[in-house]
Amino acid sequence: MSSKPFSVLITGTSRGLGLEMVKQFAETQRPLSMLFACCLDPANSEELQALAKKHPDIIKVLRMDVADPDSIKQAAAQVGSLLGQSGLNLIINNAAIAVYSPFLKSSVEDMLNCYKTNTVGPMCIMQEFLPHLQAAAKHSGMPGMSCRKAAVVNISSNLSSNEIVLYDKLPMVPYRASKAALNMITSCASLELQKEEILCSLLHPGWVRTKMGGSDGEIDVEESIHGMIQLMNSMTDKHHGELVNYKGQTIPW
Ligand SMILES: NC(=O)c1ccc[n+]([C@@H]2O[C@H](COP(=O)([O-])OP(=O)(O)OC[C@H]3O[C@@H](n4cnc5c(N)ncnc54)[C@H](OP(=O)(O)O)[C@@H]3O)[C@@H](O)[C@H]2O)c1
Repeated sequence: MSSKPFSVLITGTSRGLGLEMVKQFAETQRPLSMLFACCLDPANSEELQALAKKHPDIIKVLRMDVADPDSIKQAAAQVGSLLGQSGLNLIINNAAIAVYSPFLKSSVEDMLNCYKTNTVGPMCIMQEFLPHLQAAAKHSGMPGMSCRKAAVVNISSNLSSNEIVLYDKLPMVPYRASKAALNMITSCASLELQKEEILCSLLHPGWVRTKMGGSDGEIDVEESIHGMIQLMNSMTDKHHGELVNYKGQTIPW
């Protein structure tokens, strides 16, 4: 693994997995040049602000509403003005919403809200931030693909898979559909960005005890993020376009 400083941007960092990701990157993944921690409401994200205060050399808290393309554009411009020639190495699209409704109760509004945040948001982020990833890929001088060179990791879910259904327990139709669409977008992006050696991958964090995962979740945020960071550190061309869980096991979808 390269020991060159690298830069990371994470969405949805006010709580849950996103917040823990910022913490573990800042505490265990040096050398970092910049860690852009994006959230909906920086002024009311106390735990994130406390982390930023602890690591003022690297954490920059930014406002980004992933359901609003204008907000994504503004954040991309802000990040661009703070980055040097070395570009942005890694984007983690983590922000998402969950809607717990079965097929017969899923409304148009539920579907559109889930798609806006979980699918269209990550797509717009990949498009808007592409110049920063391209700069990183060109500047790195590293062969092949890796998260320290230029990469997008989209946080998906095993509920996006046709093979892991768990429907009785977790119907969540709008959420499942939006994550399945995120998988397809990531897969298509992986084909278009292959020649520029920008890695595009999908991660399932496990069933985690957060506001979204609930208190019955199987693991805590520390274990999930530890596993996902280890995995991101070892990602190569083999993970391009693939969905894997926090233990590194491929999930067919
Ligand atoms: N927990 C699990 O068991 C589990 C399992 C599979 C996949 N995942 C995935 O893991 C990721 C993180 O989940 P989590 O469990 O940490 O969820 P969570 O506790 O509900 O946290 C979600 C985060 O996303 C943010 N967010 C929501 N809408 C946003 C928007 N429009 N713009 C910016 N930020 C927004 C929330 O911000 P606010 O605080 O401002 O609302 C919050 O920081 C998600 O992609 C989720 O689908 C989770």
